Amino acid sequence: MPTTVRLVVLISGAGTNLQALIEASADPAYGATIVAVGSDRPDVEGLVRAQLHGIETFVLPTADFEDRVDWDIALTETVSSFEPGLVVLAGFMKLTGPAFLGVFGGRTVNTHPSLLPSFPGLHGPRDALAYGVKVSGATLFVVDEGVDTGPIIAQVAVPVLDDDDEATLHERIKVSERAMLVDWVGRLARKILAGTAE
Ligand code: GRF
Repeated sequence: MPTTVRLVVLISGAGTNLQALIEASADPAYGATIVAVGSDRPDVEGLVRAQLHGIETFVLPTADFEDRVDWDIALTETVSSFEPGLVVLAGFMKLTGPAFLGVFGGRTVNTHPSLLPSFPGLHGPRDALAYGVKVSGATLFVVDEGVDTGPIIAQVAVPVLDDDDEATLHERIKVSERAMLVDWVGRLARKILAGTAE
């Protein structure tokens, strides 16, 4: 019987969500172990965070492929080679495609810095500020073929302050987002281990 769920984490940038998962998974009781970290961009801090912890990394820039279909197939093959039980998109700024979802649909989760279905897309905090909402937050959801449209697993609310700009709001959201991600990835992993995942 496995005692840990193998996680592949995909990132595109700073990797603070990844860092939170790395720290949580140091506890064997957490239920998940990061077996690889992938990025669509080279030279990002998140890759360094993984390497510092001895976690295998891979980089698949979309520009290295003929088109998104080929990239998606390569991503699927590479992630498959690590045999993950769960894939976590943690600040991964690309859409996974049909090949990927054909294999990992239903066991790929993504975190987004807004209260979905409000403000999907690349600029959640900016769009929330522009609209003038007084509460924003973060959403963890199951990835489907849409842009931030999949079934919601968890949400956390974060107040918007009068003097917030995009950077301060996003940073404050990220504090709560990391806690939510760690909490729920652990819960999902332990459900998989217990054989009670949906
Ligand atoms: C997170 O807010 C994520 O939801 C968004 O980009 C941010 C990534 O942060 N898509 P980090 O790379 O984990 O620090």
